[in-house]
Amino acid sequence: MIETPRLRLRPPREVGWVLARSHWGKGFAREAAQAALDHALGRLRWPRAISLIHPDNARSIRVAEGLGERLEGETVVRGGPVRVYAITAEEWARLARVAGRTL
Ligand SMILES: CC(C)(COP(=O)(O)OP(=O)(O)OC[C@H]1O[C@@H](n2cnc3c(N)ncnc32)[C@H](O)[C@@H]1OP(=O)(O)O)[C@@H](O)C(=O)NCCC(=O)NCCS
Repeated sequence: MIETPRLRLRPPREVGWVLARSHWGKGFAREAAQAALDHALGRLRWPRAISLIHPDNARSIRVAEGLGERLEGETVVRGGPVRVYAITAEEWARLARVAGRTL
């Protein structure tokens, strides 16, 4: 979980994912990101979390969409395009209830 204070996105709090290549394709990214979002949006009470993803990063976009994050638009970070995916605490709590998880 990363604070991105220079970005003009409110609130500027990001959840991201990086795995060693030998562990791709096993569902670990989604599982870890779900735990991070449970912590951030549940325990830490962030009102909203974002994930910034390069438009060509299809795997990462699938992870974001699989978690329930929604595409809000595109911006530029360090000279490159990024898609902004986001989810609110209310939406995350609703998805957790549907999945039978307690935050
Ligand atoms: C992004 C990352 C964490 C994803 O983890 P992963 O274990 O590779 O993810 P998976 O292989 O399980 O794939 C995730 C989804 O993408 C899909 N996918 C896999 N290869 C794909 C491809 N070439 N094109 C489109 N979708 C693809 C999978 O089917 C899966 O979707 P599903 O859950 O609906 O079945 C990992 O690829 C990584 O560390 N990449 C380098 C760092 C990075 O780019 N981080 C993100 C920065 S925003």
